[in-house]
Amino acid sequence: MDPFFCNERVVQNGVPTNQFITRKLWDVGNTAPYGHRGDLTTITEAILHHAGEARAQRERFAALPKELQSEIVEFLKQLQVLPNGAPREITDRQLKHLLRNQKGVTAQE
Ligand code: HEM
Repeated sequence: MDPFFCNERVVQNGVPTNQFITRKLWDVGNTAPYGHRGDLTTITEAILHHAGEARAQRERFAALPKELQSEIVEFLKQLQVLPNGAPREITDRQLKHLLRNQKGVTAQE
């Protein structure tokens, strides 16, 4: 049992707390912190806390040289879902402002 993942305490939609559904990654770049309680601040930490069925991927990532790990993380950081109407390029400050002023966030066309 990983202390950061697989630590759900609340039964949600009838799914047992020891059953985990693979999380989507298409917004991973702007959904930090990670884990049920937001204990993990970086994507690297999140990858390194995989276990069980994802252990092989975790080990392969951990075995890569730091530069290649950084390239993967940089790629993953680009996977972001922006609010409707957001420009194609956006600063963190603009993004925070847009998110504050919009309730629902959906994928941009
Ligand atoms: C390079 C491959 C992978 C990357 C980069 C990755 C990345 C991530 C990240 C960043 C999270 C945290 C999401 C969040 O808390 O918001 C996560 C969660 C999760 N991932 Fe992966 N993952 C990978 C492969 C896998 C594989 C192969 C599996 C399963 C076979 C898997 C199963 C899960 C599950 C079940 C969670 C949620 C854990 C929980 O709810 O406690 N992942 N992953």
